[in-house]
Amino acid sequence: MAAVFFLLKSRTLTLFILFNLFSSEFGFLQLGSSLGINYGQVANNLPSPEQVRVLLTALKVTKARIYDTNPLVLNAFANTSIELIVTVPNDALGLMMDPRQALQWISANVKPYFPATRITGIAVGNEVFTSDDPALMANLVPAMVGIHSALAQLGLDSFIHVSTSNSLAVLESSYPPSMGSFKPELARFMAPLLQFLAATRSPFWINAYPYFAYKYDPLRVSLDYVLFNPNAGMVDPYTKLLYDNMMYAQVDAVSFAAARMGYGGVEVRVSETGWPSKGDADEVGATVDNARAYNRNLLVRQMRGEGTPLRPNQRLEVYLFALFNEDMKPGPTSERNYGLYQPDGTMVYNVGLAALTSTASVSSIASSASAEKSKGGGRLWKTKRP
Ligand SMILES: *[C@@H]1O[C@H](CO)[C@@H](O)[C@H](O)[C@H]1NC(C)=O
Repeated sequence: MAAVFFLLKSRTLTLFILFNLFSSEFGFLQLGSSLGINYGQVANNLPSPEQVRVLLTALKVTKARIYDTNPLVLNAFANTSIELIVTVPNDALGLMMDPRQALQWISANVKPYFPATRITGIAVGNEVFTSDDPALMANLVPAMVGIHSALAQLGLDSFIHVSTSNSLAVLESSYPPSMGSFKPELARFMAPLLQFLAATRSPFWINAYPYFAYKYDPLRVSLDYVLFNPNAGMVDPYTKLLYDNMMYAQVDAVSFAAARMGYGGVEVRVSETGWPSKGDADEVGATVDNARAYNRNLLVRQMRGEGTPLRPNQRLEVYLFALFNEDMKPGPTSERNYGLYQPDGTMVYNVGLAALTSTASVSSIASSASAEKSKGGGRLWKTKRP
């Protein structure tokens, strides 16, 4: 096992990229094109979008989601193979109900960057149905319709899908998965959402965090089950489907809930999942070891192209949360510690992601790093064991 750090100099920031050239453990695995990562930026110390592009390219991460339409990111990711989901912030949903405003928003924030920047999806709002804001909840689907119509008007609707991310708290019941149902009080919003997703053939995005289930009930929830470790699991007594990890059970609970409302054909994807590497004293389970196990085990499942027990032949699309620790996130300590990377580009822990880097891209990054060095004059090499 060999590991090499490259240090890329920029004016003020340095970015370390670790290439782990695993041969035995991960060498045979193919990531394909489906691992996604959430590139959150609630921080004041992150590397530049250009440096992030280099990092994602080196890691062969080809799908990313941002929580806005930051032009610096959209420009930095142009002419790369990174597919990007952008977000309409919650506070813009009211405006997007107006077709002219939606068209203006797409014209200003999406159209100028497409197709050089491979924008493939627009998340309209984030966790709106659990926002406790009835006006926002009522505005969501009309805003999605507005955005979709604007895309259609510009001929972009077949390239860019429109959806929204929901928290698992939209479920009334999630156990066993086949009993999954949405909260009855959300039905009047959920029905039109599902109808929109079915009509536009867009996925239902869920933010699924088995960590929370463990944190709130560590004595009864099996850590092995939430961490994708072997020898843990449950059988759904009604469907007889075997679940060996909680996340797949959560995703299938959403599928069953949608089916219960008549929309069993809508694909469920995971827009966020992750595990914090650090938490407050009362945040049981928020440790580096657990975060590494969760993300690493999930990554191996992703590389196998697995589906869930309910849909074994449909690869489950997953976006990890998150690329970086974000120091300005409010809330408990765990909120600021979901990242795979520190802002300086060092790994919080080794999840094995970089194992997929090929020799070719190592050398191309090495030469671009050399070019950067000759300009910036900084220290180039640093070696470290994973
Ligand atoms: C992307 O590539 C095209 C074609 O080579 C070029 O015209 C354009 O300027 C590039 N865009 C960016 C933002 O680099």
